[in-house]
Amino acid sequence: MFRLNRAVNRQCFLRQRQQFVPKRLFSNINNYDSLILNAYTPKNGKPSLIASSKDISNNTRQAIEEQLGISNFKKLGDVRTIYNVGGVSRVTIVSVGEEQPKTLAEEQEAARKATALGLQALKPLGAKRVGVDVSMNVQGAAEGSVLSQFSFSKLKSPTAIEKEDNIEMGPWASVSAAGSANSSINKDWETGQIYGASQNVARMLMTAPANLMTPKLFSEEIAYLLAGLENVEVIVRDEDWVRRKNMNAFLSVARGSDEPLRLLEIHYKGGKEGDRCHGLVGKGITFDSGGISLKPSNGLALMKGDMGGAATVAGALYGISKLQLPINMIAMLPLCENMPSGKASKPGDVIKAMNGKSIEILDTDAEGRLVLADALYYLSSEYSPESMIDLATLTGAMDVALGDVYAGVFTNCDKLWNSLEKAGKQTSDPFWRMPLDDGYVEEMKDSLVADLNNLGKGRSGGACSAAAFLKEFVADVNKTAWAHIDIAGVMESSSTIGYNIKGMSGRPTRSLIEYARNLIN
Ligand code: BES
Ligand code: ZN
Ligand code: ZN
Repeated sequence: MFRLNRAVNRQCFLRQRQQFVPKRLFSNINNYDSLILNAYTPKNGKPSLIASSKDISNNTRQAIEEQLGISNFKKLGDVRTIYNVGGVSRVTIVSVGEEQPKTLAEEQEAARKATALGLQALKPLGAKRVGVDVSMNVQGAAEGSVLSQFSFSKLKSPTAIEKEDNIEMGPWASVSAAGSANSSINKDWETGQIYGASQNVARMLMTAPANLMTPKLFSEEIAYLLAGLENVEVIVRDEDWVRRKNMNAFLSVARGSDEPLRLLEIHYKGGKEGDRCHGLVGKGITFDSGGISLKPSNGLALMKGDMGGAATVAGALYGISKLQLPINMIAMLPLCENMPSGKASKPGDVIKAMNGKSIEILDTDAEGRLVLADALYYLSSEYSPESMIDLATLTGAMDVALGDVYAGVFTNCDKLWNSLEKAGKQTSDPFWRMPLDDGYVEEMKDSLVADLNNLGKGRSGGACSAAAFLKEFVADVNKTAWAHIDIAGVMESSSTIGYNIKGMSGRPTRSLIEYARNLIN
């Protein structure tokens, strides 16, 4: 018909041509083979796509909404896929529930979840290049894309790996949103990718088996990861150095293992010279057998994740460096194994920590507080940080108290608590405040032979007594804003739900980056 017109009436060419250009159904400059769109269904109403009218023609919108209506699409998390719409092979629509999210945190979380659900639906359908509707929230959508693609397949045979081909993902945004709009989309997308990748770093470190993620290998992995990033210095301390510093609490844990310990320092100097630094400390027990106070064998394999504190701190430092945040941050990661052997510490042994306090080791399985004692003291006395946060898979009691939804925060500073609470809410990786009270350490002060014992009495309030014990090792504790975060409960996700993948969680890496980002304001 077009040719005929042209032949018949050449001077009308332009007008005719305009008439015959097919109406654009989707903007798709990136040639995505699949799209993930979001929609909501008001109570007693019809499904409604959230995508901007710049990106999708009215006809296409109506056609999709009609299909959603007749397939009973309404509940949060409902997913439908339709095929060959407007030149796109697969269009997957994910429900965000009855209404559009309202706050920024809700938008971000909805985008994170919806992107993950959409991707999970598209993966078995052979999607290779997926465009993600970013109209709800760009950063959240990017985080969802990166987090939901995490897998640890390096140790599987090649045939199994092929099935886990990575899918290329990008923001599906309007072509006409030229200039600043587009560049802010790209920037936010990149930020989201960094947040997601940082948590994946922590997941990878925690998931790697303990024989392949020893203190030495962990240090090498981080040095490699951070190499080439600006303003970062990685310093790896060995046993001789630790001994010279009198870190005997740390040494007492490491001595049972044949694997040499490491103290990993990461210095990030994105701020002005002379600006006070912020400190992060992470428990890095690459395997916790319990030592001579041996743990029962049930679930023992999970204890490869007892370096979750170190892993999340390292992940956060990766993110902070990638974002080049204008702050100074020092991370201190005491890394060792807790093993039984002829050289291991025994219940009843007494050691003198770096700050001079003597500790009777009543239970060698309460080892986290020992390695942290020296790392906290070293960081706070050597660098006088403006704030110091330690993260540790410290107590089973924390898991009993809060389970896997909230990580528990014990802090001497309301302002620091407010910052952490804000960051946790923003990233949907939340914190709950727990009591930091000297009352809990009393029971650890009745040793007949030392200043402190490392156990307390019985199981009651175990997470609180561990926190109170750590406070004894913060130099200038009345002048330093300090928080201890017990992440034992959130260490592992028991099943895959959206972007939370079954296995080691890498939480709360994103909250730490968010916290660091908020320090600037
Ligand atoms: N790494 C464990 C705590 C843990 C338990 C982390 C479960 C993640 C999941 C820690 O070193 C430990 O063994 N703590 C003891 C302390 C007790 C002996 C005072 C515990 O919680 O039982
Ligand atoms: Zn232990
Ligand atoms: Zn432990």
